[in-house]
This record gives sequence, structure tokens and C-alpha cells, in this order.
Amino acid sequence: MEQQSPAQEVTVGNARILIGDSRDVLALLDSESVQCCVTSPPYWGLRDYEHPAQLGAEESPKQYVENLVGIFREVRRVLRPTGTFWLNVGDGYARNGGVGVCGPNAKVGNTKRLIQKRNCRVPDCWGLKDRDLFGLPWRVAFALQEDGWILRSKITWVKKTPMPESVRNRPSSATEEIFLFAKEPGYYYDNQAVRERSGANLRNYWILSSNTGGGSHPAVFPHELARRCILLGSRPGDIVLDPFAGSGTTGIVAVELRRKAILVELNEAYARESEERLRKGVQERLWA
Ligand SMILES: C[S@@+](CC[C@H](N)C(=O)[O-])C[C@H]1O[C@@H](n2cnc3c(N)ncnc32)[C@H](O)[C@@H]1O
Repeated sequence: MEQQSPAQEVTVGNARILIGDSRDVLALLDSESVQCCVTSPPYWGLRDYEHPAQLGAEESPKQYVENLVGIFREVRRVLRPTGTFWLNVGDGYARNGGVGVCGPNAKVGNTKRLIQKRNCRVPDCWGLKDRDLFGLPWRVAFALQEDGWILRSKITWVKKTPMPESVRNRPSSATEEIFLFAKEPGYYYDNQAVRERSGANLRNYWILSSNTGGGSHPAVFPHELARRCILLGSRPGDIVLDPFAGSGTTGIVAVELRRKAILVELNEAYARESEERLRKGVQERLWA
């Protein structure tokens, strides 16, 4: 196989940042080297991450699902047999006319850098009709299941401060899905690491606040989301991977929790943002 190399690599303490396309970069990682993968890929047709190779800008949501399955197949290869994969992925609506790539195109709240094409059409797949909810999280989950992953849990992330939506003919959306996948049935899961306040086993709905004071990245997920997945799915010293790292939340939380991190990000500006956040942590001795 032809050896590819990521555009650039930066190491900050226990974190490696690989700047490039996950489709190329993951192939460079050793098989069975990673314990836990926590990630949130671009949602289909929503935000513009300003790179020609970005995921989420495919003409069809079917192609998007196929692309994700291919990337996560590589994630399965690099996971240890006891490894877990935590996937946060969002949904959207099919639309005729208006803006968006016929995707989740509501122009709402303070979303920025939206993918916008005028006069979009409902994609010709899955029997979709104007205003149909795609059900993308489950379509991705079923496709991954079919590809070999064991689907172990669907966790509902309940947003404390959801983005306002200007809709009048359906309830406003205030939740997202997080799926827990395992590579093999005997996977590592530390059920003592995160518990309910009562001491009971953690439930599959997580009420989480957004982070405040973030950088320039438009879609940062909550630190607490990453913290829970990493604590449940890994031990100190393990490697945690995020193939769509954005501003590096997964890596920063992983290093805070004494894990090692591998972050892959296509857009150099966001990769530099995570580098800066990680360096700040090292300088301020947030972790030693
Ligand atoms: C939803 S954001 C992740 C945000 C991250 N969880 C955080 O808290 O900052 C998805 C990221 O995937 C990146 N991306 C898009 N296509 C990619 C690809 N083919 N390979 C690697 N990264 C990609 C985008 O630039 C974007 O920063």
C-alpha cells in the first residue's frame, strides 16, 4: 500500500495533533493501539469547515453515511480489542427550496459558517419528502452495526441551553444522540468512573451545559461529554483518539485525565487552536 503522510504533525506533551484528512491519516496509525475513540463528525449539510476535503458537504446524505462508515472502519482497526467508540452525530431535515444543501438548513440562533446553496432539493434517497427528518444518527448507527461494530448504547444528550429554532409546526430540537460502540463483546467499561448522584449506574440521558468562552470553532462539544466517555472507556496512560478533533476538546480532556491523545483535524486553523489550548494547559501546569 502506498505510504501516505499527514500534512503536518505537532506534539504537545501527551497529545499528537495530525493535520490532514482522516481518510489518509488514520491509515498511518498502528492497529490495536488506541483504547477509546470519542468524536463528533461534521453534521451533513450544516456547517462549512472551509476545506475542499471536508466531510458533511457531500451532495447526498447516503454518500455521507458511506464516508463515515469507511473512516470508522479504520477506527475499528486501530482500536484495541477492548476498545470503545463514542460517536456524537446530529440530524437534519430534507427541504425543497431555500438554503442549505437540502440538509439541516434552518438558519437559526448564532450558527455561523453554514453551508448554503440556494434552491436546494430533497435528496433522492430513502424515500425522503420535503420536511422529512433524515434520522441520520440512526442511519449512521445501523450502517456501522452492519459494518461490524457492536452497538451497545444510545445516550441522549439533553441540552441545557439548546440553540433557538424559529419553528412553529414541530417541537424545537433540544437533544442529540451519542452512540457507544464496541469492537468486541468483552470491551472495557468502568461503570464506577461516572455514576448518578444517587450512586446508581449512569443512565443513558445526559443533561449537559455548553462550554462557555470557546475559541473560533463553531461546533465545540461539552467538556463533560468528553470527560464521561473517556472515564468510562479508558484508564490513565491509554490512548484516546478523535478523528474529527476540531478545537481539540477530546484531546484536552484526555490529557487532563492523564491519558494520551491523538487528534486528527483537516482545517489547520482549528488544529492550531487545539495546539494553543494544549500548550496553555502545559504552561499553566493544569496537568503535569
Ligand atoms: C463537529 S466538529 C468537531 C468539534 C470538536 N468536537 C470540538 O469540540 O472542537 C468536526 C470537525 O471535523 C473536521 N473535519 C471535517 N472533515 C474532516 C476530514 N475529512 N478529516 C479530518 N477532519 C475533518 C472539521 O474541520 C471540524 O473541525
